[in-house]
Amino acid sequence: MCLPCLRLLKFKMTNNTILVTGGAGYIGSHTVVALAEAGYRPVIIDDFSNSQQSVLDGLKQILGYEVPCVVHDCNDPATLLDLFQRENVRGVIHFAAFKAVGESMAEPLKYYRNNLGSLITLLEVMLETGVTDLIFSSSCTVYGEPDSLPVVETMPVKPAASVYGNTKQVGEEILRDMAAAGKPVKIISLRYFNPIGAHPSALIGELPLGVPNNLVPYITQTAAGIREQLSVFGDDYPTPDGSCIRDYIHVMDLAEAHVAALQALGQPGPGSHYDVFNIGTGLGHSVLELVRTFENLSGRRLNYRIGPRRAGDITAVYADATKAWEQLGWSAKRSLREALEDAWRWQQQLEKK
Ligand code: WQD
Repeated sequence: MCLPCLRLLKFKMTNNTILVTGGAGYIGSHTVVALAEAGYRPVIIDDFSNSQQSVLDGLKQILGYEVPCVVHDCNDPATLLDLFQRENVRGVIHFAAFKAVGESMAEPLKYYRNNLGSLITLLEVMLETGVTDLIFSSSCTVYGEPDSLPVVETMPVKPAASVYGNTKQVGEEILRDMAAAGKPVKIISLRYFNPIGAHPSALIGELPLGVPNNLVPYITQTAAGIREQLSVFGDDYPTPDGSCIRDYIHVMDLAEAHVAALQALGQPGPGSHYDVFNIGTGLGHSVLELVRTFENLSGRRLNYRIGPRRAGDITAVYADATKAWEQLGWSAKRSLREALEDAWRWQQQLEKK
């Protein structure tokens, strides 16, 4: 029997369908690849409000088959219920959310309705259909400006600095309350640090709409000549070179953390469970270190200048990811250089299109 037929047979015999909400987005699409490689059958729901149809072509080229995708807002109980039943969903990874910090401050209701409304709808449909397993996209932003480094999951959650950040904090609280109430759910929140890079094939990667807010797409677009100059937001922070420090994690490492989390939840069965994990490398790198590493690997000089600090930025944050290693058997494997190389390869092939 041919390999695709064997795969199909395996899919039909075991219930391994995972619904990936926001599966056409940056982290979602890479997680779809990691899921498929681990033997799961990913099914996407995405309204393409912040992603592009071309992502599905990239996934098809990487995986060799078309990933089922429903084009719809996931904050719709009827659509979700139909999807759960039709596709025999066994677990969910919930990425679908708005994520622009600035916009969230201007349009709070839009963010609360979308990010929290979709989570509540999803939980209701899970209860109705008896699906227990859920992985939730949370963020290191819950730590705010940490009192000590690296940050550990037991550290206090600081008041959110943005509406977006608050939707992540409240999302975590909703999930914790569900388990505390004894509802039949098994949930893991993953607190992401700074995802960067792309799939090494350069067939999928980050597709920021308009001017990027995040550092790495800004670097690669500047190197490609799309942006004139990178502004390094401040060099007067109390860090070795004065620029901010973050924990940059390769998006494929982050994607694989979702698979590890899903596997840790185990087989569907009775009981309630909630837990939270940091998903970072455990290493802090400064903005200027990223600039130098990028110049080194690309062989190009980056046009940058030191600009003023950006409002809302914290000085430094990086993860203690020991818990993920001990309890999920997961740790980041790819280096900063590898992540920047993959980001650069992705940017270069975008230009060829
Ligand atoms: C990184 C560093 C900037 C752009 C992101 C997400 C956030 C959360 C965590 C998920 C900072 C500096 C940036 C530029 C610069 N993830 N910078 N010039 O702010 O750490 O947060 O990851 O929820 O939602 O947005 O990431 O990439 O914007 O910034 O100097 O043009 O790069 O000051 O120190 P951030 P970022």
